Amino acid sequence: MVSFKSLFTSALLASSALAAPHGHTHTKLHQNLDPVKRSTNGTSKRGAAYNDASLVQHLASTGTVSWAYDWNMYTMGDLPGTVEFVPMLWGSKMFTGWFAAIQTLLNSGNKYILGFNEPDMASQAAMSSSDAAGYYRNYITTFAGKSKLVSPAVTNGVGSDVGLDWMRNFLNSCTDCGVEALAVHWYGDSADDFKTFVGKATALADEFNIGETWVTEFALNSDLSGSGGSSTSADFLTEVLPWLDAQEKVGRYAYFMCSDGHLLSGSGLSLSGKAYVA
Ligand code: BGC
Repeated sequence: MVSFKSLFTSALLASSALAAPHGHTHTKLHQNLDPVKRSTNGTSKRGAAYNDASLVQHLASTGTVSWAYDWNMYTMGDLPGTVEFVPMLWGSKMFTGWFAAIQTLLNSGNKYILGFNEPDMASQAAMSSSDAAGYYRNYITTFAGKSKLVSPAVTNGVGSDVGLDWMRNFLNSCTDCGVEALAVHWYGDSADDFKTFVGKATALADEFNIGETWVTEFALNSDLSGSGGSSTSADFLTEVLPWLDAQEKVGRYAYFMCSDGHLLSGSGLSLSGKAYVA
């Protein structure tokens, strides 16, 4: 849903101070980091955020992408055998059918559950942090001990009960919720801003003794404008992927997204897609 995401990004740009000034160019850092593609449990951190399951094979072909999610509790098609599906309780529209869907996944070895999608956005899951805590306890904490529980995923918006402030309020209301990983999204204009934001998220997770952070959506704003998959986004990924892989506190991540005009171009990989699976 590219147009929807573009609207979302425009809204973010219009409503917050998170965008870097237009024309800002970042200096590419030549870091002396080994491209560690494996997380501590031996699985790649890299995931595919998708709507069409049949497209995930394009990202999975090199074996770099180990997991996938589709903002849903159902795979909506067959994923490549090497790719682990992670269900998400998008928001209240998915409460019906949730327990049965998760039980089915648990029976086939499910290991993780993602919480609500951007509850700090009116156009997304739209929940106050206290309502979200109640829903989380009911629908997700129920599966503690059977699956690893990931928090709702907030935007990088800035403000009262927005972004990481929403997350802090949620975690304060949900100390008994069994949250084991923090989830965040980021849309912005530079690798430096991205790293700063991820650093803030992992620091917040630390405060609540949550050992890992997942970045379940991220992209350059310029990658959402219809010219997605460009060399600019490929350069961005070439810089931030080794950095993400080297961050011990980052559990998993998924660039937005596995579809035409983003990581894919027509029936193949775009420039950014090639960087993502390299
Ligand atoms: C929406 C999802 C959608 C995805 C990809 C997200 O922002 O919340 O429902 O599937 O974008 O289009």
